[in-house]
Amino acid sequence: MKKIKITGNRPLSGEITISGAKNSVVALMPAAILADGIVTLDGVPNISDVDSLIAILEIMGVSVTRDGETLTIDPSGLKSMPMPYGKINSLRASYYFYGSLLGRFGTATVGLPGGCDLGPRPIDLHLKAFEAMGAEISYEGDTMTLKAIDGQLYGATIYMDTVSVGATINTILAAVKAKGRTVIENAAREPEIIDVATLLNNMGARIRGAGTDVITIEGVESLSGTRHQVIPDRIEAGTYVALAAAVGQGVRVTNVLYEHLESFIAKLEEMGVRMTVSEDSIFVEEQGTLKAVNVQTSPYPGFATDLQQPLTPLLLKAHGQATIKDTIYEKRIGHVAELARMSADIEVKGDRIAYQGGKRLEGAEVKATDLRAGAALVIAGLMAQGETIISNVEFILRGYSNIIEKLSALGADIQLIEED
Ligand code: EPZ
Repeated sequence: MKKIKITGNRPLSGEITISGAKNSVVALMPAAILADGIVTLDGVPNISDVDSLIAILEIMGVSVTRDGETLTIDPSGLKSMPMPYGKINSLRASYYFYGSLLGRFGTATVGLPGGCDLGPRPIDLHLKAFEAMGAEISYEGDTMTLKAIDGQLYGATIYMDTVSVGATINTILAAVKAKGRTVIENAAREPEIIDVATLLNNMGARIRGAGTDVITIEGVESLSGTRHQVIPDRIEAGTYVALAAAVGQGVRVTNVLYEHLESFIAKLEEMGVRMTVSEDSIFVEEQGTLKAVNVQTSPYPGFATDLQQPLTPLLLKAHGQATIKDTIYEKRIGHVAELARMSADIEVKGDRIAYQGGKRLEGAEVKATDLRAGAALVIAGLMAQGETIISNVEFILRGYSNIIEKLSALGADIQLIEED
């Protein structure tokens, strides 16, 4: 089994470059099968979710070639067939094939999605949108078939009861070639949604309002190939800015779109973190005393749920006590027990996480329970006195491109080891 071994308490400095956004590329790749031509994606991160999606595409007859961070996707050989079962369960974002296969063929037969264990992760809003557009849904075992009643979806007005990134993107994927107009109300506003809309509009789609809470899509007959640069990963960026503040002695985080991190940066400034924000990078100095602050997550542009876990080790360095409340995933607490094993003064109290900062962390054997919990343990391991061994690192490798190489380049004593 792969594990990450860290010897902590070493000063880190230098430059770390952010890769393309995981939560964008896992939607851009399924979106590519809507094109009648070749789609080239630049700035694709080296993460296992991309490997999984390439495998799914190839099983479906799509040819994918990878040259460094560039993916060339040729959907001309795509066959309308049931999704490959094993792979589809390896990541939740495979559900974007529901919308793109429906949009392309008017039918999709898929296994039900997998992904991180963050408590129940329903897809009722996705299905409500597809049904509103004229799809019928049937189940056989744990595969589900979505079928447009007369082989064609129709535009509809859909109100999202909950702000949902996945349901918003999946509805767009189904709507771009539907007959007529689709309006999504109470849409999610994440930058990754704008990135998907940009790709599709460059393919000939007619999407307006991405990034706002009302998105309008006029269906078109066909979509052509195009070339697209994936936006930088704001969650990877936030993770490394928090790491730099926790253990850095001058770290520049580059390839960052500051406007995607405004609420996160504001929270760090509230803590007293000293950093310089420029056009496409953030320089984080070595920190002095920091103030413990309360954190509450909310949909974009609020404080991202994906960053509450990676921020936690830095909070544990700050003086004082405060709480963290994740309003999106209340069960996103897998890191708490593991950090407590590293002598952190942190516990779950009702619907919040309570912490007392200022105590030194001690290295320990810990396990990643999900992607961002794993990132928190890497930062804690770099802060701790002694050696930390993190298991279940597959979670971390799903979303952090070349994390061992990137942190080693800053001077971290970190390695990927095999242990039975
Ligand atoms: C996306 O997940 C991200 N994943 C998550 O990042 C992120 O945490 C999440 O958005 C919230 O911002 C990808 O983009 C691949 P949602 P998604 O639909 O789309 C409820 C990471 O660490 N809901 O926005 O699955 C749901 O239970 C991952 O990179 C319904 O009730 O999340 C949640 O409480 C983890 N019904 C809320 O909406 C639905 O049909 C927001 O979920 C769909 C969602």
